[in-house]
Amino acid sequence: MQARLLNTAAEKTEADALIVPIVEGQTSVPAEAQALDKKLKGAIGQLLKDREFRGKFMELVPVHNLNNAASKWTVLVGVGKLDQLDMVRLRNALQAAGRVLRKRGHRRVAIVLPKEVAARASAADLARAATEGIGLSNFDVGSLKTRHDHAVTQIDSLSLIGLNGDRNATQALKDAVALTDATNRIREWVNAPANAFTPAVFADKVKESVKGTALDLKVLDVDDMRRLKMGALLAVARGSDEPAKMIVLRYSGGRKNGPNLALVGKGITFDSGGISIKPAQNMEMMKSDMGGGAAVVGAMLAIAELKPKINVIGIVPTTENMPSGKAIKPGDVVTGSGGKTIEIINTDAEGRLILSDGITYAVNEGATHIVDIATLTGSIMRTLGPLAIGAFGNDQGLMDLVRRAADLAGERIWELPTWADYDGLIESEIADIKNSTVPWAGATTAALFLREFVDGRPWVHLDIAGSAWQDASELKTVPKGPTGSGVRVMAHLAQLLAGH
Ligand code: BES
Ligand code: MN
Ligand code: ZN
Repeated sequence: MQARLLNTAAEKTEADALIVPIVEGQTSVPAEAQALDKKLKGAIGQLLKDREFRGKFMELVPVHNLNNAASKWTVLVGVGKLDQLDMVRLRNALQAAGRVLRKRGHRRVAIVLPKEVAARASAADLARAATEGIGLSNFDVGSLKTRHDHAVTQIDSLSLIGLNGDRNATQALKDAVALTDATNRIREWVNAPANAFTPAVFADKVKESVKGTALDLKVLDVDDMRRLKMGALLAVARGSDEPAKMIVLRYSGGRKNGPNLALVGKGITFDSGGISIKPAQNMEMMKSDMGGGAAVVGAMLAIAELKPKINVIGIVPTTENMPSGKAIKPGDVVTGSGGKTIEIINTDAEGRLILSDGITYAVNEGATHIVDIATLTGSIMRTLGPLAIGAFGNDQGLMDLVRRAADLAGERIWELPTWADYDGLIESEIADIKNSTVPWAGATTAALFLREFVDGRPWVHLDIAGSAWQDASELKTVPKGPTGSGVRVMAHLAQLLAGH
């Protein structure tokens, strides 16, 4: 998608659809659309006055311009109550609108931002939210359908009216295009069925996508893992016939002794639970258990475009988690690459096992800051639902930066505790630590396990088990399917750490 800032008048803007966001309860035409309304003989004003369009969140009414304006349609989009309007909601409203417009075959979209809406954030934040909202609408889960009853049209150009001249907005818009492109690309991967997206395919897709970028790729195979004594990753991989891989991406944009950010993502291409097998209900969702790993790759692709002055390493251990005659069993003890012995109580707590070897790799590579991201626990899903990332950490400064990055990304994150009083949860009677325990505080337990491997370095763990995939039909504001959660957060974090 192409995007630009424009300073044409609304009625003179060429587009298939010109979006006018309307706040709930607004009964008069926004100043920026009054000349347009005149050309339309007062059609917009009439709709608002008669309360036929109320500005309710995600409400949408198209008005045909009948050649009276440069755009074909005027599209009123409700953004809900003004006091609830933040950039997360603006993104969601525009994403929903974008999906409707695509179904209607519109390719060229313009948005005129009324001052009521524009007053809610800086020009840069508005440009980001609007561009990403429309950009993220360019995705469908139905790419394997042979009969396309779903939207196939893409919105390929976006014009934003009313922010022209703001340098930060220009940059934000440019970055937003790169960020949504990277996000949509990996949403495709998360959506792919596990038979079409094995660890080897994952590595191949990454290889393909880094061509022509500034990223350096290395793929470790099982022999490399053995040489590096990655006993935890290998333990999970044992049960599967698909060879495990570890994808390592490097972006070198900073000084040698500057910060070295490591992003470590869980790449389980299918999680059956292993011998501690999962119930059949919803098991098909476990094709998306590589969402964290995909998000790391997405972030690296975006970082390669944004070019922050910092070094970043992306690490994605990837394998299936399957039951078989070779699979690990509850009670087994394995040794990770850092030398710690781990008692495997539950083979379904596999994410923390493979991440532990990924994190150790990051430490050995000289990471100064570590962020891991994973669809790690049902517990976080039950706690936060699909609308927030759960965050855990050991360093206030890094946590604050991650929060700022999430704000920029328009993603909600919520911090949960790692109090020392919970330390006993991961103590094993026969080994250094165990991978599963009591049936409560599950997301915290997983975080405490991971913390054992970060060598005391500043670290944040992002649990995206809820946010990576949206499927609650009760929630209408976010489209169903893979969300790309975390991609933009991590890319913004790299920029913030670099001092941008
Ligand atoms: N991949 C799952 C977590 C998950 C659940 C992600 C639902 C998305 C939706 C993870 O590997 C897992 O099975 N976690 C277990 C851990 C438990 C056995 C300690 C869980 O949360 O139930
Ligand atoms: Mn599992
Ligand atoms: Zn899993």
